[in-house]
Amino acid sequence: MTISTEQAVLDAHYMARALELARNGHYTTHPNPRVGCVIVRDGQIVGEGWHVRTGEPHAEVHALRAAGENARGATAYVTLEPCSHHGRTPPCADALVNAGLARVVAAMQDPNPAVAGRGLQRLEQAGIATQSSVLEGEARKLNEGFLKRMEHGLPFVRVKLAMSLDGRTAMASGESQWITGPAARSAVQRLRAQASVVLTGADTVLADGARLTVRADELGLDAEHTALAMSRPPLRVLIDGRLRVPLDAPFFKAGPALVATCVAVEEQYANGPECLIVPGDDGQVDLRKLLVELAARGVNEVLVEAGPRLAGAFAQQGLVDEYQIFIAGKFLGSSARPLLDWPLAQMKDAPELKITEIRAVGDDWRVTAIPVPAASV
Ligand SMILES: NC(=O)c1ccc[n+]([C@@H]2O[C@H](COP(=O)([O-])OP(=O)(O)OC[C@H]3O[C@@H](n4cnc5c(N)ncnc54)[C@H](OP(=O)(O)O)[C@@H]3O)[C@@H](O)[C@H]2O)c1
Repeated sequence: MTISTEQAVLDAHYMARALELARNGHYTTHPNPRVGCVIVRDGQIVGEGWHVRTGEPHAEVHALRAAGENARGATAYVTLEPCSHHGRTPPCADALVNAGLARVVAAMQDPNPAVAGRGLQRLEQAGIATQSSVLEGEARKLNEGFLKRMEHGLPFVRVKLAMSLDGRTAMASGESQWITGPAARSAVQRLRAQASVVLTGADTVLADGARLTVRADELGLDAEHTALAMSRPPLRVLIDGRLRVPLDAPFFKAGPALVATCVAVEEQYANGPECLIVPGDDGQVDLRKLLVELAARGVNEVLVEAGPRLAGAFAQQGLVDEYQIFIAGKFLGSSARPLLDWPLAQMKDAPELKITEIRAVGDDWRVTAIPVPAASV
């Protein structure tokens, strides 16, 4: 069905509002996607909703409840195709049909094989006009972890690194606290909070006493979003190829964790954290295999907060979707450690990155960059 330019502008306007609502679920929806919904009748918003967390009602259900009888003959704007299957909650497509909607506009189709076009089909069969691909780019950005997992069976991997202006990440001794200032550290707290998994390596935990927890007072969010973020902390994953980190380390004392290793789990770990044995051919943890296992457990986004060896390994294996590099106005000198352990001999071998954003964070700078071509799948 062709629509007028005026209608297309209105569709984009209401979808932008639905996306704004979906962003409320930034810290809580995983493994589910972030979804928002707006119901509009006679040019008025009569119902709004967003998905809070797995097992709880989907965005459409919240919006339909708010709209009540006003949903009859109205248009629903949803940031993801309404589901058509019985999961933990009944299908939203049926709820929209039963409520008597006249039209449903989705930002994008759901790549979940259990839905994949069937939600829109169900609506059309019931005589509801449908439209897809409205602000699709924004909708995909909102759920890049969920989409990567559904489309490729891997989580979205974001690598965070803090470096000096001369590209160094720790002194030769391993000392690295603190390179950046409080505003950058607060931004990192929010990156942790939105992730399903925060991942690091044994040497970072041993050198820094790192715990990788989310701390309410450092998030820099309002009370409502702080409470949401704290209600759904990420799983902390430690790569410790030879189980060198003792169980009384602050990392383990800080809460549940998963350890990925290459060696048989020793008796001392018997009552400790869950251990996954994922040896690679090179005698180190097989990072891809670990990511596949995490995706199978419903992990959408992984934040890697590691040093140059482990971050370099993710980079060299083409497993990184996005870099978040915080740059501080200091030099650490030529004996300090590099950003990535990745020896390259010639310019022609230099990996290309597209810098998508640079912004000031307090006195530091934050660079977002994505590998070109994209991470291998
Ligand atoms: N500036 C920053 O943003 C930042 C962030 C974090 C850490 N740091 C600093 O970085 C330093 C530590 O860096 P790091 O990279 O040596 O330690 P790391 O982050 O702890 O990584 C080392 C761990 O990764 C494993 N590993 C190494 N190469 C691998 C590969 N190819 N495949 C799979 N696993 C692999 C190692 O296995 P094995 O146990 O088998 O050796 C070890 O368990 C510390 O000084 C810390 O302060 C800086």
